[in-house]
Order: sequence, then structure tokens, then C-alpha cells
Amino acid sequence: MSHVPVLLKEVLENLKPEAGEFFIDCTLGDGGHAEEILEKLGKKGKMMLVDWDKESISRFKKKKTENTILKEGNYADVKEFLKKEKVDGFLADLGFSSRQLEESGRGFSFSRNSEEPLLMTYSDSEEPVSQILKRLTEKEIADIIYKYGGERYSRRIARAIKEQERKEKIETNGKLAEVVRRALPRGYERGRIDPATRTFQAFRIYANKELENLEKLLQILPEIMKSGGRAGIITFHSLEDGLVKKYFKNYEKEGRAILLNKKPIIASREEIEKNPRSRSAKLRIIKFN
Ligand SMILES: C[S@@+](CC[C@H](N)C(=O)[O-])C[C@H]1O[C@@H](n2cnc3c(N)ncnc32)[C@H](O)[C@@H]1O
Repeated sequence: MSHVPVLLKEVLENLKPEAGEFFIDCTLGDGGHAEEILEKLGKKGKMMLVDWDKESISRFKKKKTENTILKEGNYADVKEFLKKEKVDGFLADLGFSSRQLEESGRGFSFSRNSEEPLLMTYSDSEEPVSQILKRLTEKEIADIIYKYGGERYSRRIARAIKEQERKEKIETNGKLAEVVRRALPRGYERGRIDPATRTFQAFRIYANKELENLEKLLQILPEIMKSGGRAGIITFHSLEDGLVKKYFKNYEKEGRAILLNKKPIIASREEIEKNPRSRSAKLRIIKFN
């Protein structure tokens, strides 16, 4: 199942890709946004497509044209990828794709294919979650679950994880989900979300250094944008959105850019009905002077 791009119309309306321009999409995924942007850039335009996940890059190879540059790597390094070139348009659609969740076999999901190895990383360069659970102390694990998952039962879960580790290592997504569920009281969140949701989010953010990489990206953004260049970032939780908001506001305050929307753009009711994943998406757009 391929990933359905979120806020696609809103991205195009605000980033306004024009024929002949140079754009970068630093979270290619299944290419839903990139393909539409490429069409608007036309034959004279150019686009660099980045993803940390080698699968995403190799899947796009058959669609690659003369004016696309594919780059497997971390978006924190985009300045090096671009060498000295600057772009007219920039997009980052953070987190993971539906395909990674459902088909990558990397253990992202707490609800399906429970025998997947517990990696939860986008790239093989990062330490798998199964290793992280072995390496860290109970206190460190609790802090991660609390900080990146906002999970109030973080200590109980961390204790259960370490107890399990002493008996038998947690090597699969299914085992981790089972240990987390067992640690939590019945009627957790009145059944609104799976009890493992927050803990899985927390380990994914930690294992992929998601906030650190986003912060590096936000720091180099002004250096890779042309004057008049538009940058859009789609986030999926408040930790990410808070960082984007802070950096964008500062760039405006320093007179380096203007915010194209004071409030983040969110999905319409129709989009949320068709694609529930868009429910938590927030798009912020900035134009550099
Ligand atoms: C939400 S998906 C993008 C979906 C895409 N816009 C589409 O329409 O198909 C996010 C992508 O970002 C990639 N990613 C996550 N962290 C990354 C990082 N630090 N550097 C580069 N790519 C990253 C993931 O591998 C994933 O493919």
C-alpha cells in the first residue's frame, strides 16, 4: 500500500512551484508530493529528492528523470548535498510513511506483523531499538518514554521492559507491544488509543534522533534558500511543531523571512475522513527575504 500525501493541495498552493525553478524534497517517501511538484517545475526545472530510507530512494529510481537528483541520506546534511547551490522551494514532510509502517518489516507497528525485528530506524546507520533497550538503564528508558511520548506511565513501562529483558530479550515489535500493554492498567485512555502508541512513538523519535535532526535542518535552512524561496514543513506532533514554530518566528523577527501563515495549516474535514493520518498534520510555510 503506497503512502497518501497529506495536505497536498495546500503544499502546492503555498510553495508555488514555477516552471524552471529548483526545489528540494528532503523526505521523499513514496514521492507523492515530489511528483506533483516536479510536474509544475516542468522540463526546465530541477528537483533534489532526499530520503534516509534506501528503499524509498530505490523505488523512485524508475521514475527518475534527467532533472531529478536522488540522494540517500539524512536531511540534517542537506547543505552538503546541495554543495553551494540554493533552492527556490523546500519541503519536509516529517516522520514515517504508511508504507514504512505497514511493509518495511522494520518493526514500526505495534498492531500488525508482530514478528518483525525491532529496528524502528529509517536507516541501517542508526542503532536498532532492540539494542537501545539492552544498553539503557531503566531510568533512561523511562525518561525517553516520558519525554518523547508524553506517557504518564513511563516508569511502569520501563520497569516492565527491564524485567522482561532479564528473562528474555525483546527482539520483535510484537514482544515490545505485549510488554507495554501488560504494564498498563486496564481501561487505559478509555480505549481511545492502543496502550503501546505513545511508547512506540517515543522510541522511534529517540532511535532516529528526530528532534536533533530537525533542529539541524532548521538551523541550516536560511543558508540553502534563495531570496524569495519558500519553505514548508509538515509536522505530526507538538514536539516537532514547537521547534518549527520557534525557528520560523525567530527568522521573521530577525528580518530574514516572513511567515506566510500565522497559524499552521491543518487538513480539511474531507481529507481527514479519507486519510485519518492527516488528522495531526500541521503545515508551516516561510518565505525568505
Ligand atoms: C511522511 S514520509 C514522506 C512522504 C512523502 N511526502 C510522500 O508523499 O510520499 C517521511 C519520510 O521521511 C524520511 N525521513 C525521516 N527522517 C529522515 C531524515 N532524518 N533524513 C531524511 N529522510 C528522513 C522517512 O524515511 C520517510 O520516508
